[in-house]
Amino acid sequence: MSPAVETLDLTKTFVKKTLKGSIFKRMIRRVTTKPEHVTAVDHVNLQIGEGELFGLLGPNGAGKTSTIKLLCTLLVPDQGTAKVNGYDIVKEPNKVRESVGVVTGGERGLYWRLTARENLLFFARMYDMSDHVSKPKIDELLKLVELDGRADETVEKYSRGMKQRLHLIRGLIHDPAILLLDEPTLGLDPASARVIRDFVKQRLQREQKKTILLTTHYMDEADQLCDRIAIIDNGKVIGLGTPAELKKSLSQADIIQINASNVPEAAESLLKNIEGISEVALSFDDSDAGRAQLRIHTMDAESVLPEITQTLVSKGVKIHALQEIEPTLEDVFIGLTGRKLRD
Ligand SMILES: Nc1ncnc2c1ncn2[C@@H]1O[C@H](COP(=O)(O)OP(=O)(O)O)[C@@H](O)[C@H]1O
Ligand SMILES: [Mg+2]
Repeated sequence: MSPAVETLDLTKTFVKKTLKGSIFKRMIRRVTTKPEHVTAVDHVNLQIGEGELFGLLGPNGAGKTSTIKLLCTLLVPDQGTAKVNGYDIVKEPNKVRESVGVVTGGERGLYWRLTARENLLFFARMYDMSDHVSKPKIDELLKLVELDGRADETVEKYSRGMKQRLHLIRGLIHDPAILLLDEPTLGLDPASARVIRDFVKQRLQREQKKTILLTTHYMDEADQLCDRIAIIDNGKVIGLGTPAELKKSLSQADIIQINASNVPEAAESLLKNIEGISEVALSFDDSDAGRAQLRIHTMDAESVLPEITQTLVSKGVKIHALQEIEPTLEDVFIGLTGRKLRD
């Protein structure tokens, strides 16, 4: 069986123009710009099976949105191509558009002065659906995400979670085989995010048997939802597998998690210098600069533990909790890049 989505060396480079010179120089001379090339999607080769819920996990700027835009023909690749539902994104863009539903997070893409029902009717007409076909479909979709009670209110009165549910069914109106969901829970409160996740897994994948490509920078979301995950960074796929396989690739490493206060920035490099430690990731608590979490990768926790605590205590660090933990996808990312997923 051929895959539902297949990318073949898919590549997209942008030219970013950055202003050169100081403000003062730019005021008295002609403004010069220095073009900088960013390869947002870099020779990506992926195969997504029919009915699979596939995750693209990576930090901000990794190339997730660009990949989605290429797959739904909003962008044209510079190199390589992709097949979506068997159709080539460059040669058969219209067929591709019929095959996919795209859902992006955030505030755009809906008409705030229209009601939810009017929004859906508008998009159905854009897909050339006749009203007698789309109207019952719209009722069904509104019910599916429990917006039927408020379908005739204008969208501007909706909460973020409600808007996101409406976004989701907007992508379903023409009953596409493949769904491209770009950070569908971005910025939602935990309860609204859970509703969206359950909907995607239970309704869209299990019941409606859709093929789903979902992008996220939330590692827990990818872990819970996705059958397989591609980890991307700087446009490149750097890891691929089921969540369990990805974590197993780290099974040789012990991971120590330390919660502490009064942590200096230098703690990271000091700990990295200790023999037997392969990676250290330090992240500060937003609310209080000195409060931080350290994740330390080592082959043998027991042998490095005394030196870790000594080093930290000698710098005045107060350790609140220290434990050995099971690897998460965050640790997989740290192991692959030396950085945390969310800096
Ligand atoms: N239209 C554009 N023009 C120039 N650079 C862009 C454009 N769109 C994206 N980029 C750059 O491409 C890279 C990948 O961006 P994006 O695909 O939005 O990443 P993500 O969705 O993973 O955060 C980033 O460095 C971003 O600045
Ligand atoms: Mg994005």
